[in-house]
Amino acid sequence: MKNLGFIGAGRMATALARGCASANLVPAPQVLASDPHEESRTKFAEQLPGAQVTADNGAVLAACDTIVLAVKPQMMDGVLAEISAHVEPRHLLVSIAAGVTLERLAKQLPAQTRLIRVMPNTPCLIGLGASAFALDAAATAEDAATVERLLNSVGKSYEVEEPLLDAVTGLSGSGPAFIYTVIEAMAAGGVAGGLSPELALELAVQTVAGAAAMVAQTGLSPAELRSHVTSPNGTTLAGLNALADRQGAAAIQAAVEAATKRSIELGKS
Ligand SMILES: NC(=O)c1ccc[n+]([C@@H]2O[C@H](COP(=O)([O-])OP(=O)(O)OC[C@H]3O[C@@H](n4cnc5c(N)ncnc54)[C@H](OP(=O)(O)O)[C@@H]3O)[C@@H](O)[C@H]2O)c1
Repeated sequence: MKNLGFIGAGRMATALARGCASANLVPAPQVLASDPHEESRTKFAEQLPGAQVTADNGAVLAACDTIVLAVKPQMMDGVLAEISAHVEPRHLLVSIAAGVTLERLAKQLPAQTRLIRVMPNTPCLIGLGASAFALDAAATAEDAATVERLLNSVGKSYEVEEPLLDAVTGLSGSGPAFIYTVIEAMAAGGVAGGLSPELALELAVQTVAGAAAMVAQTGLSPAELRSHVTSPNGTTLAGLNALADRQGAAAIQAAVEAATKRSIELGKS
C-alpha cells in the first residue's frame, strides 16, 4: 500500500493505523488522518509518531488511494456529502461504521466507487480483533486483499456476503460483551467459594483466554475438548449439569441471535 488515509482519527482509526504500521504494510509517514477536533488529531499523532494529521477531509482524498471511513454512523452522511465530489476511480473506500450498508454508501458517492464495508470488534484495539468484510460490486479481488491485510494487522478477518454482516455483528461485534459477562459470572462463582475478587477475576480471565487458545491451537472441537476435562461423577460434570439446568448454552446462543436481530432492525431504520 502506497499510502493510507483515515477520515475520523478516533480509537478505531488509531488502532488500524498502528496495526498497519507495525505490520510494515505502510510506514507511519505515509499515513494521513483527518479529524475536525484537535484533541483527536493530537492523540492520533502521539500514538503513531511520524503520521500526518489534518482537519481537512479533502486533503486525505487528495493524498491517499485507500481511505478508511472511521467516523460514527450518524456522522457518515455528512462526511459522504463533503467528500463525494473528490472521489475518483483510483480510490478504494473502506467503511467501518456499524450498520451503514453498502447501498447507503454507494447512493451518496459517484457510480462505480469501489467500496468495502467492514464490521470490526473492539479487541482490534489490542491487536486481537475479529473482523468480517463485504465487497460491493465495483470492488476488486485486489481491493479485498488490501483490506484483508489491513484487518489482519489488528487480528483476523473473513470475507462474507453483506447480508451476513448482521450475524457477524451479533457474534463477534457484540460477542466481547457476552464474554465479559461470562468472566464476571465465573469470577463471582470463585468469590462464592472464598477466593478474593482480584484472584477470582484473574483466574477467570486466564481460563477464558486459555480455553480460547486450546480451541484455536489444538484443532479439536469445543465438544472434544470439553469431554477431555469431564470425568464421570467429577467436578466439571457437576458444573456442566448446573449450566444445563439453567440453559446456560441456550442463553448465550439467544444473546447472539437477539443481537443479530437488533442489527437487522437497525439496518432498516
Ligand atoms: N470501537 C470499536 O470497537 C468499533 C467496533 C465496531 C465498529 N466500529 C465503528 O468504527 C467507527 C469509529 O469508531 P470509533 O470507536 O473509532 O469512534 P471515535 O473514537 O468516536 O472516532 C470517530 C472520530 O471521527 C471524528 N469525526 C466526526 N465527524 C467527522 C467528520 N465530519 N470528518 C472527520 N472526522 C470526523 C470524531 O470526532 P468527534 O469525536 O469530535 O465527533 C472522532 O474523533 C464507528 O462508525 C463505529 O461504528 C467501532
